[in-house]
Amino acid sequence: MQIRRIHFETIDSTNNWPKRNLNAFSIDEIVLITADEQTLGRGRYQNRWESPPKQNIYASFCFFETAHLNLGNLPKLLSITAVQMIEKLGFSPKIKWPNDVLISGKKVSGCLCEGVFVERNKFIVAGIGININMPSESLQKINKPATSLYIESGKKYDIEELVRTLQNQFLCNFTSFSSDGFKPFWPRYIEKLYHQQGVKMSFRDHEKLWEGSFHSILSDGSLNMLLPNGQLKNFYSGEIFL
Ligand code: BTN
Repeated sequence: MQIRRIHFETIDSTNNWPKRNLNAFSIDEIVLITADEQTLGRGRYQNRWESPPKQNIYASFCFFETAHLNLGNLPKLLSITAVQMIEKLGFSPKIKWPNDVLISGKKVSGCLCEGVFVERNKFIVAGIGININMPSESLQKINKPATSLYIESGKKYDIEELVRTLQNQFLCNFTSFSSDGFKPFWPRYIEKLYHQQGVKMSFRDHEKLWEGSFHSILSDGSLNMLLPNGQLKNFYSGEIFL
C-alpha cells in the first residue's frame, strides 16, 4: 500500500478539510493531508494549535476504518511515529501520556484524532503537529512550555524531507498496527515515556481532578495512577498535569 498526499499552502485545519470533503477519499486508501500553514489549527480540549506558515509540520492521515481495527491507541501510534522521526535527527524525545512528544520537558508535538460516521463506515482523521523551525517569537504565543527542533539544536530542517520520513514511518507502523494492534508497540512506548513511577501528578478526566502519583502504563495503553489511599485508578483518557 502507498499513501496518497494532498498538500495545501493555506488551509483552516488539515483535520477539518478531509471531514468537509469526504468524497475526495476512497474506501481502500490512506491519504495524507499537509499544509504550509493552518489558519484555524486545533489542539485537544478546544485549544488552538499555533500554525504559522512554513515553520512546522501540520499533517493528517485519513482513512476509512476497517471492521477489526481497535483505534483507541492510534494517537499513541502517531506519537511513536513522531518520536522515531525526531530520533533520526539525533534528539532524545519522550512521550507524555497519552500522545504528547516532549524534548527537554517541553512539548514539540501533539496529536488530534477524530472520527466521522459515513453511512455504515467510520472515517478517521489522525492529525499531528510537529514544531520544526519555529522561532521563539512564535513559540511565545503558546501558553504552555513548548519548543521546536530549531530551538533545541540551532539548526533549520527541510520540512518536506521530514514529512516524507514521517509518511514512510507511519505506513510501516500502521501496517503492523492493523494486523497486530498496539501490543507490539507497547515496549517502545514504555521505553520513551516521560513519566517515572512514584512521581507526583495531577490528572483530569471527565469527572474531576485527581491527585496521586504515576504508577504505570498497561499493554492496552491505559494509565494506572496510585491514589493517596493506596488504590490504583485506571484511566483510558484524560490529561496529566505535571
Ligand atoms: C494537541 O496536542 O493539542 C493536539 C495538536 C494537534 C495539531 C495538529 S496540526 C495538524 C492537525 N490539524 C489540526 O488542526 N490539528 C492537528
